[in-house]
Amino acid sequence: MSTQAITILSPGRINLIGEHIDYNGGHVLPASIDKKIKLQFESASDDTITIQSLDYDTSIEIQVGYFAKSTVEWENYVLGVLHYIDRLRPTMLTGFKCSITSDLPAGSGLSSSAALSCGMATGINEWFQLGLTDLEIMEIARKAEHNYVGTMCGIMDQFAVVKGQQDQLILLDCKDHSYEYIPAQWNAYKIVLLNTNISHNLASSAYNERRRECEKALEIINSLGHSYKFLCEVPLEVLHSFKEHFETSTYTKAKFVIEENQRTLLAASVLKDGNLKTLGELMYRSHQGLSNEYQVSCLELDFLVNYTEDLDHVLGSRMMGGGFGGCTINLVHENFIDAFIENASTAYQSQFGITLTPIITVINDGVKMI
Ligand code: GLA
Repeated sequence: MSTQAITILSPGRINLIGEHIDYNGGHVLPASIDKKIKLQFESASDDTITIQSLDYDTSIEIQVGYFAKSTVEWENYVLGVLHYIDRLRPTMLTGFKCSITSDLPAGSGLSSSAALSCGMATGINEWFQLGLTDLEIMEIARKAEHNYVGTMCGIMDQFAVVKGQQDQLILLDCKDHSYEYIPAQWNAYKIVLLNTNISHNLASSAYNERRRECEKALEIINSLGHSYKFLCEVPLEVLHSFKEHFETSTYTKAKFVIEENQRTLLAASVLKDGNLKTLGELMYRSHQGLSNEYQVSCLELDFLVNYTEDLDHVLGSRMMGGGFGGCTINLVHENFIDAFIENASTAYQSQFGITLTPIITVINDGVKMI
């Protein structure tokens, strides 16, 4: 254990394309961003762990070894991380203090939860010199989310937070965690996120339902003489040939998943060629699929994406993350960003009576100690 304080910066993430694909073993294209959670670790004299959120003016105190679930959601990210680290490295933890501040908005689809859990796991790893690998840190954070929070997420968010690099997108193959960096070069275009400021309580249960429906689709296909491990491995023709075995809604969702995976691979390849126009079209197609077929959008997200459709200075736009609220991601020409934000905000306000929050962001390093 160090005697001096250490500071960890843990970023949020964007995802350019490839939504609801990670838990189906396909490809995603995320990146870590410049909006971050800052965690400062200091020593404590006994076995008390104190975690304090300075922004929310709240804290928890835990005794080492007593990591049972809480009724407070954010605490469960922390407790889950402590629990799974304690399992992997028994008897290594003692008390410490951690204070947290953030410029990463929570509940906006930028994965502040993975930033918190991966930041916490990275900090504990450094503080106690536990020698955890990146993959172990991601898995600890993911298990905390599954078993302490109850959202059956994939690996994309944790992967982006841990493996992110400045100005690089990560083309991640979720079936085996192989990945490559792709330079995020879109010339004069910048990433503008529009936060709908909507977050639906049902998002987590609807997310888990989608995941179950995909598992059901895979079961149906495998019961008909195949043995695919992931839905993204199923060729569209195979899915199509079994159409009559599916309820329409399950078929439509499975088709979306297979096509979204193909779109992501195509997006990565056109990005390498600098073909930004096609990239933008793929983003719009992704949104249509998420909204109409996979049904994880909402009126507010649809409005903001539709709003951009005739704007020449917007290359592409789509909902981002789990859905049911949160942000749209837009690639906007740098000369028009101010006007874009102003006009979209006015239109959104007059349609819904809600003020949106614009977030201009750049791709920046993954979690690290500073
Ligand atoms: C959330 C989950 C991710 C991923 C996205 C949708 O962010 O945490 O694992 O499934 O939704 O792409």
